[in-house]
Amino acid sequence: MKKILITGASGFVGSHLVEEALERNLNVYAGVRKTSSRQYLKGDRIHLLEMDFSNKKELTQKLKDHKFDFIVHNAGVVSVPKLKDYYRINYEFSKTFIEAIYASENSLDKFTYISSLASYGPANSENLSDFLKEEDNRNPINTYGKSKLKTEEYLAQQSDFPYIIIRPGGVYGPREKEILTFFKLINRNIEGYIGSRDQHLAFIYVKDLARAIVDATISQHTQKAYFISDGKHYTQWDLGKYAKRILNKKTFRFHVPVNLVRSIAWLLEQPAKITGNYPALNLEKVSILESMNWKCDITPLKNDLGFEPEYDLEKGLEDTLNWYKENKWL
Ligand SMILES: NC(=O)c1ccc[n+]([C@@H]2O[C@H](COP(=O)([O-])OP(=O)(O)OC[C@H]3O[C@@H](n4cnc5c(N)ncnc54)[C@H](OP(=O)(O)O)[C@@H]3O)[C@@H](O)[C@H]2O)c1
Repeated sequence: MKKILITGASGFVGSHLVEEALERNLNVYAGVRKTSSRQYLKGDRIHLLEMDFSNKKELTQKLKDHKFDFIVHNAGVVSVPKLKDYYRINYEFSKTFIEAIYASENSLDKFTYISSLASYGPANSENLSDFLKEEDNRNPINTYGKSKLKTEEYLAQQSDFPYIIIRPGGVYGPREKEILTFFKLINRNIEGYIGSRDQHLAFIYVKDLARAIVDATISQHTQKAYFISDGKHYTQWDLGKYAKRILNKKTFRFHVPVNLVRSIAWLLEQPAKITGNYPALNLEKVSILESMNWKCDITPLKNDLGFEPEYDLEKGLEDTLNWYKENKWL
């Protein structure tokens, strides 16, 4: 039985990856921190492995001991108050981890890195029918995206390393906590948006994402990178439209002008210039909302790995919202 290590296993994507890997009959090791929740990592088929990405020596020893066939490096931060933590955790820890893999002299079949669409920045906003493609210029517009790009660039320098990079668009599904805020409001009959222009978005249901990541990891492909979404394009209004239908709610809809949100974000983040702690609403977040085109081309993923999404947004939201209700998150 092939051995797979999934880092960030306690999180939203990671916990679904663990479930998918178990379904594929892999011998699953869940990489966690001492402090990580074990809520979704129960059962004797899951081996927990505590990992400290700042300790190369200890990491090397653990990799020597376990001799993994596959590693999915999914641990990372999406939203943190200190900008330097994006680089520390998403880039420096990844680099240390890869150095430890080399030092362990373990011959891996595959190292799959979970990057993000944000490592490219938005697609062409002049022509909204454009989808981001591999050969496009990379202009990440936030520190998160820049930290993911830096890790991708480091990987690209490793000419003898069997890596694959996966770049998801917006991931949603059971256990997700950010888009949940929007659904909570809909559930209270409030439908709030920032801005009123169409924003083109790419979504992927977490179970389709987990399936594609495991497929890519056990495939023969290496030194390649793939965007992933369900291949369709949506606007922000679709989220509201489907959620209202599924939750059977009528809503009061309002739009907060982007300029107003930008001014508030600017004010809120002024103290961060001294404290280094950025508020949840900051100018980087606003720049994402101001970018009108976040679609990506998944043709290479379809061609190389035969990826066919099982869920579009409407079907995935049915599952997601039902899960939120059953688990009293809504
Ligand atoms: N969600 C999305 O829409 C999306 C889109 C594109 C890419 N991604 C990428 O997908 C990956 C997983 O994201 P997610 O949405 O599942 O986030 P999440 O729920 O916050 O999970 C993040 C995971 O990373 C771990 N982690 C964070 N900081 C760590 C550190 N310093 N040392 C070790 N482990 C650490 C967390 O462990 P603890 O539980 O101990 O905190 C957790 O298991 C990330 O790399 C993210 O960039 C996500």
